Amino acid sequence: MSEEVLARTVCESQSERSEIIFPADANALGNLFGGRLMQYIDLVGAMAASRHARAITVTASMDHLDFVAPVRVGDLLILKASVNRAFKTSMEVGVKAMVEDVRKNRLRHVSSAYLTYVAMDLDGKKIVVPQVVPETEHQKRRYEDAGRRREMRAEETQRKKQIRSLLSEEWHV
Ligand SMILES: CC(C)(COP(=O)(O)OP(=O)(O)OC[C@H]1O[C@@H](n2cnc3c(N)ncnc32)[C@H](O)[C@@H]1OP(=O)(O)O)[C@@H](O)C(=O)NCCC(=O)NCCS
Repeated sequence: MSEEVLARTVCESQSERSEIIFPADANALGNLFGGRLMQYIDLVGAMAASRHARAITVTASMDHLDFVAPVRVGDLLILKASVNRAFKTSMEVGVKAMVEDVRKNRLRHVSSAYLTYVAMDLDGKKIVVPQVVPETEHQKRRYEDAGRRREMRAEETQRKKQIRSLLSEEWHV
């Protein structure tokens, strides 16, 4: 019988994805569509979450997302994701999107986001995930910050649930 893993380091699930941007993914100005960037962010985030949980994960939420700078056709987009902290069945993942200037060997930050994923078994039931062991100072700070963000998210989720139940009383389609 396999031994249950209670904790994993951040490095064990860190994930990266690279994309060359083609015209089909861009608007008339030649800038990548925001929705496509969100898709890439979600996919690399899911990779890290699934690696950490060693299970299927679903996206529960994506926090506020800023598009700091445009990504243009022909750009090399690099996305990096790591699990900041695991709770019971959910994990907060941080994703950073950058454009690599291959000639200057430099990275330019274009967007970043925090997403929450929930781990599921093959029957779609939530499962408990291993805890995160932060090792570096950076990882420890992200771990602490993730705890504070979870509290804020829980209040927001509660508020939205109340709004949804009020709306469902009013809206009869
Ligand atoms: C996300 C989902 C699994 C939550 O299920 P639920 O039965 O309402 O779950 P619970 O209230 O028991 O919460 C389960 C965990 O998710 C977390 N969670 C739930 N909603 C959340 C939200 N909006 N943001 C962040 N975390 C959330 C809870 O804090 C809890 O974490 P914990 O177990 O680590 O303490 C469920 O709403 C779902 O399946 N949504 C659709 C997911 C999906 O299809 N995503 C792809 C988008 S198309």
